[in-house]
Amino acid sequence: MEIIIRPDAGAAVELVSRLLAMRIGNKPACVLGLATGRTMEQLYEQLSQQAISWQRCHTFNLDEYIGLTPDDPQSYRHYMQQHLFSRTDIDLHNTHVPDGNADDLKQAAIEYEQAIQAAGGIDVQLLGIGEAGHIGFNEPLSAIMSRTRDKCLTPTTRRQNAAMFGGDVERVPGRALTMGVGTILDAGEIILLATGRSKASIIAQAVEGPITSMVSASALQLHPNCKVIVDDDAASALQGREYYDFVFHNEPEWAEFRD
Ligand code: GLP
Repeated sequence: MEIIIRPDAGAAVELVSRLLAMRIGNKPACVLGLATGRTMEQLYEQLSQQAISWQRCHTFNLDEYIGLTPDDPQSYRHYMQQHLFSRTDIDLHNTHVPDGNADDLKQAAIEYEQAIQAAGGIDVQLLGIGEAGHIGFNEPLSAIMSRTRDKCLTPTTRRQNAAMFGGDVERVPGRALTMGVGTILDAGEIILLATGRSKASIIAQAVEGPITSMVSASALQLHPNCKVIVDDDAASALQGREYYDFVFHNEPEWAEFRD
């Protein structure tokens, strides 16, 4: 795992945007795992301005609320359309979001895993992190080997996401269909982006704490190619900062990203 700390949210977002644009430039038919949330809104704005073609990319979103139709303004399919897909030349047939409105959610989950396999697996998985430590909607106690399935959301998550539902926590669906932690760990590369002081404690637990299903993001410590990119605020509870900064300033891989 590598931890890259940028001075502010704008710089962290810019770094992730450049990394993803490089990955798409190097492999135009790449398979991307995509995330949602407020942090990603700024990222998608920047990413859609990059001079890259998305025409041959395939995308798989992490999760979707159960019971929302794709055209519901609060659905993640709608979010992706608004924040990224409509701003790029991506072929919508190549974009996938779990079907949270399926009659048979178990079957929809199996088919989602099969679609990822059929596309050749995920090359690069983008992640945010919830304050309960979730990646996707893998709430505490999600098995580290879990696959796509429906999951009951924690009160913390529902409160955190209430802003997207007019501030009314009761309107936030109680369940979601989400890739599992195991599905996420199968990706070739993982890039987690987190900004703001509200993420400081959970970032420290995920990166420097024990691997535990109580903090799903801690399972990322098992992945051989995982980058955690944070701003100064989200990094503020990390103990090993001096070393992380040293790596960023010395590894040749990061030379072009240094100021
Ligand atoms: C939702 C998504 C997560 C995302 C999280 C972060 O809960 N299911 O995948 O990581 O939001 O949200 P924000 O960026 O708004 O803090």
